[in-house]
Amino acid sequence: MNNRFAVILAAGQGTRMKSKLYKVLHSVCGKPMVQHVIDHVSSLHIEEIVTIIGHGAEKVQSQLGNRSKYALQDQQLGTAHAVMQAEDLLAGKKGTTLVICGDTPLIKAETMEALIRQHEEQGAKASVLTAYVEDPTGYGRIIRNADGFVEKVVEHKDASDEEKRVKEINTGTYCFDNEALFDALKNVSNDNVQGEYYLPDVIEILKSRGEIVSAYQTDDFEETLGVNDRVALSQAERTMKRRINEQHMRNGVTIIDPDNTYIEADVVIGPDTIIYPGSIIGIGSRIGNDSIIGPNSEIKNCVIGERTVIRQSVAHDSEIGSDVAIGPFAHIRPASQISDEVKIGNFVEIKKAVFGKGSKASHLSYIGDAEVGMDVNIGCGSITVNYDGKNKHLTKIGDGVFVGCNSNLVAPVSVGDGAYIAAGSTITTDVPGEALAVARARQVNKEDYVKNLKFNK
Ligand code: UD1
Ligand code: CA
Repeated sequence: MNNRFAVILAAGQGTRMKSKLYKVLHSVCGKPMVQHVIDHVSSLHIEEIVTIIGHGAEKVQSQLGNRSKYALQDQQLGTAHAVMQAEDLLAGKKGTTLVICGDTPLIKAETMEALIRQHEEQGAKASVLTAYVEDPTGYGRIIRNADGFVEKVVEHKDASDEEKRVKEINTGTYCFDNEALFDALKNVSNDNVQGEYYLPDVIEILKSRGEIVSAYQTDDFEETLGVNDRVALSQAERTMKRRINEQHMRNGVTIIDPDNTYIEADVVIGPDTIIYPGSIIGIGSRIGNDSIIGPNSEIKNCVIGERTVIRQSVAHDSEIGSDVAIGPFAHIRPASQISDEVKIGNFVEIKKAVFGKGSKASHLSYIGDAEVGMDVNIGCGSITVNYDGKNKHLTKIGDGVFVGCNSNLVAPVSVGDGAYIAAGSTITTDVPGEALAVARARQVNKEDYVKNLKFNK
């Protein structure tokens, strides 16, 4: 196998996005487009990946980290000029160079691999990935000669009326013989409508030198979408979402209504888990087998065990064990750790709290900045009073504690193992284990009070 290199073009501002965020950092299914591209490229046994950065250089670099080398393109003079910036890193090396745009997140690794393979088998100097699309507006058109061989690529803005009718487009993904590429780049001019140095011109240059130039046509036109504006961004989202859902279903996950279920990239879900409609499962989430999510649950960056049910609830940045029941209408806020067999019922908010095995907060509670032991029962309406207006404080609740309804635990405070808190208490000092704490005014019944009221006479 030849040495393989890759160049990812990611220096553009993305004017058509009308955004303060640089184009390639816009997310599709929770992951920046350029990250999708590098993830695909990385699976191809590439020796060296060079990303061309310009607008938002630091942000793109910090997104991709050390998975790529970087070349800076100071001024965006076109895609050929962009590739030229990789010259110091790549020129003179023998091998095949894949060039791909940072705004085409849907092109699959298999398709890139097929392009590279065909390119190498045919001994071509340049190969372009093409596709037939019903509406080729905006794309470069593939112009073939009478024998069907690729002659050149013409940009939409430079195309004649006849050329505009061509429905075979340039996807912006190419393979080149590395040495031929950097040699041909020197001859690219900016004599065109946009005054830019076009990378596709390399095809015509190599062709005119009598080199073998080939095209690989993917039959999946959806792959080829280049995201230039928000309309295309939503199309990319739709296609990627469908792909992700299909993958999970093939892996044994039941998705009741895939059109209405939003699972972001790289989420892991075990078999026999059922996802009900209206659910959003964000990047960074892992869900075990036999769980039930939804309807209408929003889960972001959570690790969830097996046989856990999360109905109509929100959970972010937390760990949730197995055999847990959450919701309906619960809110698990970041840094919570919910152990196995816990029950978090309706209108309960948990924040930065550890919940031990088998504990319950079944209704209408707020538990924040707390360590709750095992088999604790938190009665309806109870809260940890964690904030004094300036600082947050910790509440510790030992194993087997029973917190009566409508109690306030004013932190910092701790309740020992097995203690009871009488309903309606406001606890301001520590409660020893096994004790009963009553912290409320005694009830006084004033006999005949109402009868003797003047206005009753
Ligand atoms: C490009 C192709 C077009 C193809 C289409 C596929 C050219 C001239 N045209 O058009 O034939 O059909 O992609 O989606 O290549 N970039 C830089 N530096 C630059 C210019 C662009 O890094 O100076 C990057 C952009 O960040 C982007 C990519 O190159 O990721 C493509 O640029 P874009 O302006 O979107 O090209 P298109 O007009 O879509
Ligand atoms: Ca584009």
